[in-house]
Amino acid sequence: MFKKKNPIGLDIGSAYIKAVQINDTKSGYELALFGMIPIQPGIIGDGMIADKVKLTASIKELLKKAGIKRNDAVISVSGHSSVIIKKITIPLMTEDELGASIKYEAEQYVPFDINDVEIDFQILGPRPEEEGQMDVVLVAVKKAVIKDYRDAVAQAGLDPVIVDVDSFALSNMYEVNYGITEGKNIALINVGASTSNINILQNGQPVFTRDSAIGSNHHTEALERELGVSREDAERLKMGRSVEGVSPGDVQLAINSASEEIYAELYRSFEYFRSSVGEEDIDGVILSGGAAIIKGFPEAMAGRLGIEVEVADPFKNIRIPEKLDAAYIKEITPIAAVAVGLALRRVGDR
Ligand SMILES: Nc1ncnc2c1ncn2[C@@H]1O[C@H](COP(=O)(O)OP(=O)(O)OP(=O)(O)O)[C@@H](O)[C@H]1O
Ligand SMILES: [Mg+2]
Repeated sequence: MFKKKNPIGLDIGSAYIKAVQINDTKSGYELALFGMIPIQPGIIGDGMIADKVKLTASIKELLKKAGIKRNDAVISVSGHSSVIIKKITIPLMTEDELGASIKYEAEQYVPFDINDVEIDFQILGPRPEEEGQMDVVLVAVKKAVIKDYRDAVAQAGLDPVIVDVDSFALSNMYEVNYGITEGKNIALINVGASTSNINILQNGQPVFTRDSAIGSNHHTEALERELGVSREDAERLKMGRSVEGVSPGDVQLAINSASEEIYAELYRSFEYFRSSVGEEDIDGVILSGGAAIIKGFPEAMAGRLGIEVEVADPFKNIRIPEKLDAAYIKEITPIAAVAVGLALRRVGDR
């Protein structure tokens, strides 16, 4: 019998595609491969594929670079215009009963035609404050968006066996590396290029999830606008490299002003969470995504939100073997958070 390889976690972002594969060994998880390539701006927009042909070509390029052959893949979607995640309260019923009636239950919460979305749910449990009621996390994703992602991945030569959402990949990554934090509200925040995913966990369960259309492209645009540099140079400046004729002080000012807008958006979501679940506080933030690599970004965020911010280490509990470039991976580690969460999914999990 051939030992079947674990799936590739493929995080198709609007700025980078990341691929991760993780082996289950006797002594725990071990990273089997990590690969990442930038993709051209505009291929992915607003959580949707704008250019399927180019995306397929980019995925192929990454597979080649990372030495990935035919394999199962776990992919994800995100974004406020194609994914709805909502905690709802409904009468107590079994999982089977809910499976049969979820479409009906979901209808009032989904702003799209219910026949155009794929629906999934997770029962959180009975509601202590209301007898006969239970809390459920409802997930609805546009079918057309899922199909586009599946097609692009399949055309690149992978078999998309699971389609997840970014926020849940993050909670998977968190649980494997940090365990379940009892009695605490932990906000998992992933600030990518065009989207920020927020997932607040209470005793390890998602109680508030929101994708917002503000990310580190804000930094890029501020640098372009305020310093008159090209997009490419703005990207270099964000990574701490120097560009001729540009003063580091000006770079910092432009970055800081864009960061303020990102913090303000996150703050609004936290306020919304606090008011919707009854004045609960957030005990800590685990920050991931490319923005977490920007110098000073996590520290300033902690100051602005008044909450402890820890940069996610998706490999905390995953050994990186010598033969992989551990030093490089450590440098960009928070950018791999979603891909790691995806790579840890196994067919048959729920
Ligand atoms: N050292 C770095 N390496 C790569 N990206 C970085 C680095 N520092 C900052 N960034 C920024 O992080 C962003 C990429 O992060 P990430 O890969 O998490 O986004 P994405 O998943 O492609 O986008 P999204 O999920 O929003 O569509 C880019 O805006 C990039 O400029
Ligand atoms: Mg992303």
